[in-house]
Amino acid sequence: MKVKLCLLAVTAFLFSCQQSERSESQAIRVISEQLKYAVELAEPLRDSVLTSPRTFENEQLKLVSSRDWTSGFFPGNLWMLGELTVDTTWQNIAIDYTLPLAKEQWNAKTHDMGFKMMCSFGHAYTKTRNPEFRQILIQSAKTLATRFNPSVGCIRSWDHNKDKWDFPVIIDNMMNLELLTWAAKEAGNDSLRNIAITHALTTMKNHFREDNSSYHVVDYNPETGEVQHKQTHQGYADESAWARGQAWGLYGYTMMYRETGMKEFLNQAEKIATYILAQPGIRDGKIPCWDFNVANLADEPYDASAGAIMTSAFYELSQYSGKGNEYRKVADKLLESLASPDFLAGVGENGGFLLKHSTGHKPGGSEIDVPLVYADYYFLESIIRKQKFNNSNSK
Ligand code: GLY
Repeated sequence: MKVKLCLLAVTAFLFSCQQSERSESQAIRVISEQLKYAVELAEPLRDSVLTSPRTFENEQLKLVSSRDWTSGFFPGNLWMLGELTVDTTWQNIAIDYTLPLAKEQWNAKTHDMGFKMMCSFGHAYTKTRNPEFRQILIQSAKTLATRFNPSVGCIRSWDHNKDKWDFPVIIDNMMNLELLTWAAKEAGNDSLRNIAITHALTTMKNHFREDNSSYHVVDYNPETGEVQHKQTHQGYADESAWARGQAWGLYGYTMMYRETGMKEFLNQAEKIATYILAQPGIRDGKIPCWDFNVANLADEPYDASAGAIMTSAFYELSQYSGKGNEYRKVADKLLESLASPDFLAGVGENGGFLLKHSTGHKPGGSEIDVPLVYADYYFLESIIRKQKFNNSNSK
């Protein structure tokens, strides 16, 4: 009963046009209670290898090592909760979950450096201005840049499945570019910025279809830069639109416009938005299923992570676009759905994660209709972005 009342309060806060300070603090209290529970569950499972909760599957809380692409999200959630609550206790816990990722600054075997380091050390540096954190981020960007191939004009995504792909680049990789543009500004390093811009332009040329949906994987010839295959890995079919991939693209091009001011990136983000908003129900706040082209959408699992990434991206895009009002309304409706009891877990449920019903890798048979830590990350980011809008509009 208490949990139900709390959830109603969360919903009231997130959706009411005239949010009161009381309902806002109730909402943050619920989120705070759930993350407290998450830390309680995670602590006994943490060791020198396993650092961060990723999902709760088959009633088991799954922690990952710093190497995993999702390792930065849980620390990021703690940093964002610290921002929402202005409670320094959260900052201490966040530091404890951030530091084990420091060694990743040297890991050149992954393109996921941006996810890992910006979501953890990025927040840590913004909050503390600790110069060691700044140095870790700059080194991380330099390490990521070693994966750039000038013949292709992209950063290589995966090293696995060498029998299948020569130089795979996935749409998700757009998300790692912010680390490069950030470090370029901090360190006065134009080459990092140029790599990010070149990667985004090459992806714009080769990843998108006529209808502005995107492929998941484009495989290049590493010597000539020629496109060899366009495929999927986590989507339903090579020619389908994997929902999270569309969300990464929307977020990635919006962020690249913010970082560079290049109009072509804003245009690309708007084109992706047009595609997404043409999908059934999204404009009215329906959380997408894991792929937009599966046969019976009604029978397929949701992907709340795709919904949360889109929400956060629409909030940001609404600031830059002539269609800002439209995007803002969509973001509000999506956030309303995410914060409804259909998706938001009660305190003490869901392995400590905030959102239910995400899908990680349906064709691989893993993480289907489960909580995923990155869904929570972009949900929290959406709440913060919405709050900032409301605050700036009320001035
Ligand atoms: N970047 C991996 C995923 O979205 O599943």
